[in-house]
Amino acid sequence: MTKEQLINGLNEDLAAEWGTIMRYTYQSSRALGLRGAELRDIFEQEIPDELGHAKYLTDAIADLGGDPTTQPKTFDKPEDLKGMVELDLKMELNDVENYSRHAKLAEDLGMTALKVKLEEMAADESEHARDLRRILRGM
Ligand SMILES: [Fe+2]
Ligand SMILES: [Fe+2]
Repeated sequence: MTKEQLINGLNEDLAAEWGTIMRYTYQSSRALGLRGAELRDIFEQEIPDELGHAKYLTDAIADLGGDPTTQPKTFDKPEDLKGMVELDLKMELNDVENYSRHAKLAEDLGMTALKVKLEEMAADESEHARDLRRILRGM
């Protein structure tokens, strides 16, 4: 396990966060109708959390001597509201998995603070996933 692997992993997480910020911003504008108006609020509420994650990762990568990415991960653009929420749930669950995996990498390298913070971020994404699952159940 090397520091380079950790930097690469964190850069993938960062690209995912930039993509998530763009996805929620995009979806909040494309969510139409009465139900869409509710979703718009929910998407917008998620953005500050994701921005906090992106800021943390940018600092962490720079501190490790890496170059923090500014390229977002691309995302699908479902037209319908249910498709949007399904996609978001899938992406949030991916994030939970990746943060948990990278927390273990940080632990192996003896970086306790980073490990704990990545676990906290995994927990944040897991809460986002729970919110989305609730919404999806009623659609
Ligand atoms: Fe996030
Ligand atoms: Fe999230």
